Amino acid sequence: RTVYLNGEYLPENEAKVSIFDRAFLMADGVYEVTSVLDGKLIDFDGHAVRLARSLNELDMKNPISKEDLLEVHRELVRRNNIEEGLVYLQITRGAPNDRDFVFPDPETTEPTIVLFTQNKPGLGNDPKAKQGLKVISIEDQRWGRRDIKTVQLLYPSLGKMMAKKAGADDAWMVQDGFVTEGTSNNAYFIKGNTIVTRALSNDILHGITRAAVLRFAEEAQMKVEERNFTIEEAQTGDEAFISSASAFVMPVIEIDGVQLGDGTPGARVARLREIYLEEMR
Ligand code: PDD
Repeated sequence: RTVYLNGEYLPENEAKVSIFDRAFLMADGVYEVTSVLDGKLIDFDGHAVRLARSLNELDMKNPISKEDLLEVHRELVRRNNIEEGLVYLQITRGAPNDRDFVFPDPETTEPTIVLFTQNKPGLGNDPKAKQGLKVISIEDQRWGRRDIKTVQLLYPSLGKMMAKKAGADDAWMVQDGFVTEGTSNNAYFIKGNTIVTRALSNDILHGITRAAVLRFAEEAQMKVEERNFTIEEAQTGDEAFISSASAFVMPVIEIDGVQLGDGTPGARVARLREIYLEEMR
């Protein structure tokens, strides 16, 4: 596949990054994942706005304008013939010529910018949306600025492995007794006609899909409560789901071994998924 590195389009095996890159040594980088359906980017604007915010929160300079970034996304989708899939983007503080905790001088060290595509035929019609996911709960052991989309993904990665070991699909993380979010998605349950999800703060990533889903709640004739909830309360829900740029809206049918409803995906989550895909495509 063709990838993008610091202004150049290259075959993936020719794209090389320094061993001193700050993301490699210190996870000093931010990222975004944007989905592609029918060859078109979904909610690029939302991702570009969040990227700018992540960079700003970390005092990192933004090496590329929104217009140029959009063009690179489109060009990679074109060159790699992506009908359905993802575009991954990462910006790091760059590669000084040594390891040092102190930030390098931004005048002399340029950020590293990498983009690549992931071809995922069938992404918009994932059979998991018919089956639903099983999740387990784990303690949230991530750092305190989860609103910044950094590449520090070790704990989420461990979380997915814990879920896998337990025979589940994913994990919901819990802090001080309340669910924060999924390892790579936002978490919700539905009771009656109310969607409940944690409010925005530094404790969770401000999901771009989340914002859209909550906007569409009214169209689905549902109310939204943004507040803390426990695993026990979610287990009493009629339905539950997750949202992300790669899963869109995906039903959850079991939480810590407790089935929701009759243990199959429900109509309200199906409706939300349908509205999301219709409106965003
Ligand atoms: N993950 N919460 C976390 C911790 C995430 O990593 C993600 C996204 C989300 C959902 O955000 P959005 O709707 O903007 O994709 C919530 C991406 C998809 C990933 O790491 O691959």
